[in-house]
Amino acid sequence: MIDVLMPVRAPRLLRVLEFALEGVEYRFVEKPRQGTRILFALCTDQCGIHPQTLELLRLLRSETGVLEGCKAVVIVDGESELYTKELAQELCLAASLAGCCFPGKPLVEGTASLYNQHILAQQRGLSVEQTYLLRCRELVQRLLDYEPPRFERPSLLVLHASEKGRSATLWLWEKLRRRLEEVCDIQEVSLQNGTIYDCRGCSYHACLHFAQNEGCFYGGAIAETVLPAIRRSNVLLFLCPNYNDAVSANLTALFNRLTSFLLHSHLYDKYLYGMVVSGYSGSDLVARQLLGAMCLNKTAQLPPHFCMLQTANDLQAIQQLPKIEEQLDHFAEGILRNILPTAK
Ligand SMILES: Cc1cc2nc3c(=O)[nH]c(=O)nc-3n(C[C@H](O)[C@H](O)[C@H](O)COP(=O)(O)O)c2cc1C
Repeated sequence: MIDVLMPVRAPRLLRVLEFALEGVEYRFVEKPRQGTRILFALCTDQCGIHPQTLELLRLLRSETGVLEGCKAVVIVDGESELYTKELAQELCLAASLAGCCFPGKPLVEGTASLYNQHILAQQRGLSVEQTYLLRCRELVQRLLDYEPPRFERPSLLVLHASEKGRSATLWLWEKLRRRLEEVCDIQEVSLQNGTIYDCRGCSYHACLHFAQNEGCFYGGAIAETVLPAIRRSNVLLFLCPNYNDAVSANLTALFNRLTSFLLHSHLYDKYLYGMVVSGYSGSDLVARQLLGAMCLNKTAQLPPHFCMLQTANDLQAIQQLPKIEEQLDHFAEGILRNILPTAK
């Protein structure tokens, strides 16, 4: 059974749902219920978000644990070429923090022109309209099939570009590490300056050629160390200090370089976690960018409470945050509850 949460009954979106949900048991609901499978069916208009959709976001952000035990996917239908991705990111962040989990690539969006479907339409030999409809139907099927994996002894890969003894974000991770290391195999990879070049933007065919040999134009640390470590891992944890309201350049370069990896592989079986620290404000923007790149685009699963968000401008400030130990306990417990086998 699928619960469809559709704050605005827009005509094109209703037609899409009619096709995507054909033969599936579903019902429209006004409010989410814990432990259900949810299809978020959202739309934007020329100005972006509708008041009813904002109301849904406010509910997810205000009612603690309202989506605990839920699994969800998202369709966003646009009345213009803008705002669809922004809404999807907002929704996924709010829903994850409210306890919901998402399979990898849980979003199908349709911009007004459906131009965003054109590459896949070419690959499938279909029109953009047919491609959009079929992808929504496939998304519904993935929601029905989705069972979040659990691991006897999870292998956790930590990706960062920060300096020990100086970085507040790295200090936070070292505290978390002590809470996880007994039950996880942990590997840390540093992507500091000089070890990683940003994506060169090769043609699709050149990228595919390098990818088929499990490489990339640049080779180097990414191809030799980082990609094999990603392949081996069950859980990816990104340490993200806020740099200009965004993920730092080295981590962004990794997102971009994963494009070639994704041509022959995927991250559907891996969980995405993050720790974000901002000096002043904006951790939500960084978390949105992280989940946008790694889950909506690059196929990692988004677990419940995927990210710890803190505000502290330096090492001293983070060490003095009130209740930081309790918050770390809470974050670690949430991770372990989600990735370890359930108690029998
Ligand atoms: C290049 C750079 C840009 C930054 N931009 C922001 C920003 O836009 N907003 C903010 O709140 N903090 C910003 N900060 C502060 C960091 O987020 C802050 O120092 C935080 O403690 C995390 O960084 P750390 O792990 O390196 O200590 C910036 C820091 C640097 C070095």
